[in-house]
Formats: sequence, structure tokens, C-alpha cells
Amino acid sequence: MCGIVGFSGEQQAAPVLLDGLKKLEYRGYDSAGIAVSSGSTINLMKTQGKIVNLCEKTKDGALTPGTAGIGHTRWATHGAPNDTNAHPHLSNDGRFAVVHNGIVENYAELREELKSKGYVFLSETDTEVIVNLLEYYYKGDLKQAVMKTFNRLEGAYALGVLCSDCPGKLYAVKEASPLILGIGVGENLFASDVTAIVSYTKNVIYLEDGEFAEITPAGVTVFDVAGRPIDKKITRVSWDIEAAEKGGYEHFMLKEIMEQPHALKATLEPRIKDGRIVLDDCDISPEKMKSFNKILITACGSAYYAGYAAKYAIEKLCRIPVYTELASELRYCDPIMDEHTLLIVLSQSGETADTKAAVEECKKRGATVIAIVNVVGSSIARLADHVLYTWAGPEIAVATTKGYTTQLIVLYLFALYAADKLGRLEAVEYSRLLKELELLPGAVQRTLDRCRELPEIAKAIGNPRDMFFIGRNVDSAVCLEGALKMKEISYIHAEAYGAGELKHGPIALLEEGTQVVALACYEPLLDKTMSNIKEVKARGAEVLALAPEGNRRAAAEADEVIYIPSTEPLFAPLCSIIPLQLLSYYVAKELGCDIDKPKNLAKSVTVE
Ligand code: AGP
Repeated sequence: MCGIVGFSGEQQAAPVLLDGLKKLEYRGYDSAGIAVSSGSTINLMKTQGKIVNLCEKTKDGALTPGTAGIGHTRWATHGAPNDTNAHPHLSNDGRFAVVHNGIVENYAELREELKSKGYVFLSETDTEVIVNLLEYYYKGDLKQAVMKTFNRLEGAYALGVLCSDCPGKLYAVKEASPLILGIGVGENLFASDVTAIVSYTKNVIYLEDGEFAEITPAGVTVFDVAGRPIDKKITRVSWDIEAAEKGGYEHFMLKEIMEQPHALKATLEPRIKDGRIVLDDCDISPEKMKSFNKILITACGSAYYAGYAAKYAIEKLCRIPVYTELASELRYCDPIMDEHTLLIVLSQSGETADTKAAVEECKKRGATVIAIVNVVGSSIARLADHVLYTWAGPEIAVATTKGYTTQLIVLYLFALYAADKLGRLEAVEYSRLLKELELLPGAVQRTLDRCRELPEIAKAIGNPRDMFFIGRNVDSAVCLEGALKMKEISYIHAEAYGAGELKHGPIALLEEGTQVVALACYEPLLDKTMSNIKEVKARGAEVLALAPEGNRRAAAEADEVIYIPSTEPLFAPLCSIIPLQLLSYYVAKELGCDIDKPKNLAKSVTVE
């Protein structure tokens, strides 16, 4: 996913832009560039590959002097990743520069229209039509040119605009792609996300779709789609850049795995007061809760697997049918729903295009929407009727870990809260389960402490052609996430399967040495899963088992065992996922993979 940054102030812009682009590297990219205005010229430098190439090319910004500029990391959508297609793009007359995150759906017709007016195009990108439209509409008033330009665009875009006629002035435009303003003293910024801004200011403004901003060193003015100035709330960011740095760990992913007990506490504790759950950011009356006849959980990737794992707890406690549907399917499957449907949507970034589109579709059909997201002020958070933030802090590694577990604990909180509203729980059971919830961060810490032999196990696993993750009930849901973690950072083909299903086909794939990870943490079905371990062992599989502490049978049946602290069975996924996160990390590390930025992946997929 592309990232954009902009700066206007008294100091040199290029070092700030390069620093901001480094903070956006985790989003995934294949080229980068900056454009800085100095007097009546725009100095532009861009390059394929990593930001470090751009720093070398610009001599850390020394070759691009000026105090106002824009920058971009590109994740190729239109056109190959090369210097020509890299952003920023210049207009034919060289007076305008643009950076863009998103897709212009109608770029082909705009390109033909501009060509008929004599414009030439150097790149294969959709972005080049934007910068030449600016030139075409510019009659001396940059704001008017910006408005006329973005009124011609269809699709998703966050834009940064620089014009050599207007030194020190930038424009930032938002439609469907995230864009945040940073409000400093004598300097102001914009960026695709807060991590690129927070080193310079913690005062931010989240732009809404259709809004655009004029940015100068003296201040920021936000306009609505009609060009009228509007007042916007300034939000104070609660974390600092150290939280987004590696903190001494080799990879962000390992740091974020180890942060989970803290992230879980930060997410859980503010919502428990005097032995009661208080979800003041999601106040649904008992009558409204009783009006729901189904709950639908939707998301993508790991967020979907978190919802799938929590479905068991919500259904068991609330006694309402709970369904899960991938957002990329839900948005197109003409879903049956109405005002009696509660939609729970999960998204770490709050910007995933499929998830956002699914929410819009369900809102049109009358569903009540609760969003569980990690990024404050994100698009999905603003679309929902109610928001439950996961206070995990910034998650930089592409492979989510604390994002997944904090979503889980919010879902468990919600399950208990809703069951109570529905009158489904006796007071003593409510208190028991609440105490079990409060014990979870500590149980996760104890699980982390029990994973010391994982680096050795990872070394023994090596680089197998296939891996199977098997389990039953909530364990099977955790297998889905465990297999995804292994796939996305070690590139090993890993498949999750219900342990009871193996005999209906997949067991044909097992042979001497096939690597199987068996989850036997859901204690009510422990014996069944143990039988499945025997089944796969009989066919020569190598089995790593996860089992509840004290279970001797697992040690007898499996080749390796990792013991998980005993918790309420419905909440077991919060601990059983931990060894699988670490297993994928250590296997990928052994294989020398790019753990924080896996090939072909982006942290948030804001395009379809
Ligand atoms: C997680 O490891 C993956 N990178 C990916 O599946 C991710 O969970 C998915 O793209 C959804 O992202 P979101 O939570 O930001 O919506």
C-alpha cells in the first residue's frame, strides 16, 4: 500500500520527508521519491527500491533544498515498479508535483482527454492524469485548481499537491484513502498515518472523505467538498515514536509478540469497573440487544480468524446464532440481513478496502455495526454505529500479532457484556467469567515464558514443503491463524484442517516426516484430538502438540509438546495462538525471510 507525506515549515523539508517515508516503509512499497519547492523551481528525486537508495541519491536531502515538500512510497498498482512510475509526478509544465495513494478508476478517459489537449504522459501511472489536470485547471488560484481536479476524479485517493507558483503552500485531499494532518508550531504536515507525523507533533486532524486542506508554515485550513472552511477537532496522539520503534528487538514482529500482555491489559482494564464490564463506546440497550436475531462477524485475513475464534464464545454465552463471512465475499453475496442483524467488523488498520465496502453494504441493509479497530479515527471506525478500540498501540510488522489477540479479548469482553444485557448469565457465572478474562494477560505472559525451546523446534522443522495445523472447535479456528502466520512470513505452504476431517481426504497427503502441529488446548475435546494425533503419527508424521499444562498423554503421543496455561476453554485461543506466532517467527528467521515486510504483502490492503 502506498504512503504519502508532506511538510511545510522553516527547516529543510527533505530530511523530514525522508524520515517520514522510513516510518511508512512497513506498509510495503517498491519505489519512493520526494519533491521540494525552492524559489520558483521544484526539485524532484525518485528511485526504484528502498528508501535507503533515495537517501543516497538525494545525499540525505542535501540535493533537494527547500522548506516545503511532498514524499511517497509506492506499492505498484498501475505500471511496473521503476523510476519513471515512482511518485512524485510532475505536470508537463513542471510547476506542479503530486503524490497519490489509491486508484483513479476513470484515469483512462481523463488521460485521453488530456492527450487531446496536447498533454504527454511519461509514466504508466493513473497519478499522472491528476498532476496534468491541475496544470490544466490552474488560472492563478491553486485552491480552485485543486477543487476542479478532484471533482473530476472517481475512485480512492489521498493526494499531496505542491506548486512552484505558491512557495510554502501544500494541499492535501482525501477520498477513501487515509490522510492525517499534523499541527506543529511554525510547521505543519500531512501523512497516510500517524507514525510518519508523531516525531514532529502529537496534535493531529483526521480528514474525512471529500475534505481537503491548505497547509502553510503558519497554519492549516480544512475545507469541505464545496470549498467552505470547516472546523476540525484536533486529536492528541497517546503514544510516542518509541512505541513505533523496535525497542531493542531484531524485528517489529518479535517486539509486538512480546508486547501482547501489555497490549491486552491496556485493552481490557479500562473496560472493567467495580466488577462490571463498561463499554461506554458501545452502549447498546438491553431492548436493542434483544432485538437482534443474528450476529454476523466480518473481516479479512487474521482479523477474520479472530472473529472466527471468538464466534464460539459469543454463541455459547449469548445463545444467538453467530455467522462469519469474509468481507471480500460478503460485499458481493447479496447478504440477507435487516435491522435485526448485528454486524461486528474487525480491522487492525481500519482501512481495508474489502472490509470497508462490506460494512457500507450491510449498513444499507439496516444492520447495526460495531467496529473493533486499532487505529483511532480510521475509516471503518468512522463508518460504524459503535466503536470498540483495541489499545494495542501502533502495529508495524505486516504480520499481525497483538492486533489479533487484542481483537480476541475485545470480542470476549463483548460476549460477556452482551450475554449480561440479554439476561443469559447468572451473576455468579458472570463474575467467574469476568475473573477468567482478567487472568488472560497473565496467562499469555506465562505462555510466552514457556516458549523458550521454540527456536530449536523451528530449526528442526527447517523448510518443509507442507505443514498441517489441526484442531477441533476453537482450536481449529486458531489453526487457521497459525497456518496464515507460517505462510505469510516463512512462505511455507501451511494448511489448517479440522482434526476430525483428516480421514475424509487430507490424510492421504501424510507421509514419513510430514510436519503436523496439533492443537489439543480445548479441553472438552482433548481425548478426541489425542486420537487424531495417534492417527497422524501412525502415518509417519512429526507432531508438535499444544496441550493444557499437566496433560501427560500429549507427551506420550507427540514428538514435542508445548504446554498452555489452563484457562476458561472458550478463551483458550488467546494463549494457544502465542506458540504459533513464535513458531512462524523462528522458522522464518531460520530461513532468512524478510519478517517485518514479507514479499507481496502490505500492512493494510486499501485497494480491492
Ligand atoms: C495479517 O497477518 C495479515 N497481514 C492480513 O491478513 C491482515 O490481517 C488483513 O489484511 C486485514 O487487515 P486489517 O486487520 O487491517 O483489516
